[in-house]
Amino acid sequence: MEERIVTASNLDEDRDNEYSLRPQRLKEYIGQKKVKDKLKIFIEAAKKRKEALDHVLLYGPPGLGKTTLANIIAMEMGGTLKVTSGPAIERAGDLAAILTSLNDYDVLFIDEIHRLNRNVEEILYPAMEDYALDIVIGKGASAKSIRLDLPKFTLIGATTRVGLLTSPLRDRFGVLCPMEFYENDELKEIIVRSARILNTEIDEEAAYEIGKRSRGTPRIANRLLKRVRDYSDVRGTGIIDLETTKAALELLDVDKEGFDSIDNKILTAIIDSFNGGPVGLETLAYFIGEELDTIQDVYEPYLLQKGFIIRTPRGRVASDSAYVHLNRVKKPDRVSGNQSSIFDK
Ligand SMILES: Nc1ncnc2c1ncn2[C@@H]1O[C@H](COP(=O)(O)OP(=O)(O)OP(=O)(O)O)[C@@H](O)[C@H]1O
Ligand SMILES: [Mg+2]
Repeated sequence: MEERIVTASNLDEDRDNEYSLRPQRLKEYIGQKKVKDKLKIFIEAAKKRKEALDHVLLYGPPGLGKTTLANIIAMEMGGTLKVTSGPAIERAGDLAAILTSLNDYDVLFIDEIHRLNRNVEEILYPAMEDYALDIVIGKGASAKSIRLDLPKFTLIGATTRVGLLTSPLRDRFGVLCPMEFYENDELKEIIVRSARILNTEIDEEAAYEIGKRSRGTPRIANRLLKRVRDYSDVRGTGIIDLETTKAALELLDVDKEGFDSIDNKILTAIIDSFNGGPVGLETLAYFIGEELDTIQDVYEPYLLQKGFIIRTPRGRVASDSAYVHLNRVKKPDRVSGNQSSIFDK
């Protein structure tokens, strides 16, 4: 699949600025107020008691700042961060080696923790609960289990698919942090901060405009900022203003809702070719020439979340906002009894 400018996944071009743009301390971390408040209290309490912070599970869509937060927690706790990921730990012995290399108050970050092997996962249970590692020595009847003490560490797990976590693993996390999409004002603040770090001048209203089109996601906001800056360096005055921003984003095919051409193709198809729906996802995918999985995993979630598409038992339906967005008028003969039309208001 071609790379989309509005994808929430990490692209190669994001890696250069990932490091410099990442906030280092909790007080620099913008938004996610509930998560931040919770962490602030638990971190302070743990430090007061000179204990390790309880294990933390960060979950939510890509690009919302899970890895960033893991770094911040290690920094605030004054421990070292060790980073690994579910698919990288192949055997139980690999995890045992990592665990025994930790020191007190260190933070072990396991990204994509839902992809841990089952037998690897079982090593984690006593490690999380009792800071202990159970090792079996020998085989058959003479096999003996010995228990090794582990340092008082904090495990931070991150996942975009919390539903795939087994319940014994999920239950062993003391601090659950659901990450939410960011508000436009928060994204604006993130963009203003990033622009400052990148030594770029930007108007408040331009920053808000980029934020509004970033699908609630800081990673997308930073990426769009960089592209708009390039445009402004070449075509504009060098200072990013609203006009330059709008022109740049139009060129990049990112519309005022943060939709790209495929998002709009999906909405247009439902409205113009299927009378607003309901239409089955498979039919829709076939009609616009995209894979079913791609529509389901990549495009649809944001359209659903923003309420432009509604999921019904008979298929997908375009909402009133979709009609307004595409400047279409709902045909009166399609207005069924309990569905309101834009004329009803
Ligand atoms: N609260 C925030 N304030 C400022 N910048 C942020 C914030 N959250 C994230 N960012 C920026 O967004 C980028 C992406 O964040 P991060 O890599 O932490 O996301 P993630 O949730 O780990 O994504 P993935 O699920 O793909 O691993 C970071 O490089 C950082 O610059
Ligand atoms: Mg990450």
